[in-house]
Amino acid sequence: MSRARLAAALVAVTASTLVAAQVTGTFPPVPLASKVFASPADLPYKVDTDVGLIRGVQSGYNICNSTTQNQESLCQTAYFNSFDDFCIWGPIEPDGVVGDIEGEMIAWCSKPGHGTRLIPEGALTGLQWIQTPDYVVAVGFLDQTLVNIKAGDWGGEMDPHGADLRGNPMGGVMFSTAFTGQPVQVIEWHNFIGGNKFCLKACDPSRQDDAHYCEHIFDRIGCDYNIPNNAVDGVFEHCKGDNQDFPGIYTENGEVKTYTQPAESLGAISTMPYQPKVPPHSECVTFSSAAIFTGLPSASKPLSTAAPTGTGTGAAGGTGTRSGGAAGPAATGTSTRTGTAAGANSTDSGAEKVAIPLISALGVLFAAVFLS
Ligand SMILES: *[C@@H]1O[C@H](CO)[C@@H](O)[C@H](O)[C@H]1NC(C)=O
Ligand SMILES: *[C@@H]1O[C@H](CO)[C@@H](O)[C@H](O)[C@H]1NC(C)=O
Repeated sequence: MSRARLAAALVAVTASTLVAAQVTGTFPPVPLASKVFASPADLPYKVDTDVGLIRGVQSGYNICNSTTQNQESLCQTAYFNSFDDFCIWGPIEPDGVVGDIEGEMIAWCSKPGHGTRLIPEGALTGLQWIQTPDYVVAVGFLDQTLVNIKAGDWGGEMDPHGADLRGNPMGGVMFSTAFTGQPVQVIEWHNFIGGNKFCLKACDPSRQDDAHYCEHIFDRIGCDYNIPNNAVDGVFEHCKGDNQDFPGIYTENGEVKTYTQPAESLGAISTMPYQPKVPPHSECVTFSSAAIFTGLPSASKPLSTAAPTGTGTGAAGGTGTRSGGAAGPAATGTSTRTGTAAGANSTDSGAEKVAIPLISALGVLFAAVFLS
């Protein structure tokens, strides 16, 4: 394990993890982000074999093939290849509240062939796919009820860490052909979904800063701050782009600063000290979703017309034109804020419960232990 990789893993070590670890006596022997597979063919039936830990067993499996290619699939091997061929994480059962079940998400994909469920026809209403030197990223708009997310849920964040290092989803792995043309495992990625919007960034594992671009500790400030973008609902396009600033890093009066996400116990995040910078992109090509997303099942229920309700530090965030506020923390507040932040009351000791100052202190402590 590289030092950078180790440091990244350590950032996930939190106070609540330590408490949990003391209660159960153990972390998994190998964190999910350290389970490396040369190709999908090397995957075991379940990547997470850590039974007996606080969050139970992996809900799905990682060997996915033509027999698991159906809308009951529990495949947890996701692909993030190109604008026409990608997966996002979604619930197994209808009406899922992301913050409650982020550990059990399964892959929902835009194209048959990966042994997964498919995002139903018409569910996606906009997509911006950008390839940069260090990562590929998608920001999409969708009827989230068609991938089993409860209408009005502002969602949460998934990444291969989690406070107990088993990942959200536990055992979820991702591959991409976007970097070399062959499927390589994406070690660092993050995915926000909720408020009828998603964003997912898959960082090139061969690049040194993958853990920074795909940082996983800013899980309460949504797409706008983790994946600054100008994607627009109703538009499907793919582009080339520059790298963004690392999430949480910004420049003020020439000084580079690091944002500290407040502890959840301090309440909803209502102000932010900075505006994220949308990185430049170019060579955009628009496409027709009907021509590209073919072979998909039709939606099993009528398209929802219900606008999301409730606000708070919406996970997917967005300062677009959607009224009622997929706005994330920078929203000009409304009095309807209900504070359903990402995983607000989830019981899985997710990373959102992290208190940043503790992380650094404990990270250093753990680094000393691990490296000695
Ligand atoms: C297909 O996937 C299922 C579920 O993981 C597995 O049980 C089965 O052995 C696989 N079939 C083949 C031919 O690999
Ligand atoms: C919070 O907990 C309540 C009661 O257990 C549950 O009904 C609800 O779905 C949970 N999640 C959120 C985000 O409120």
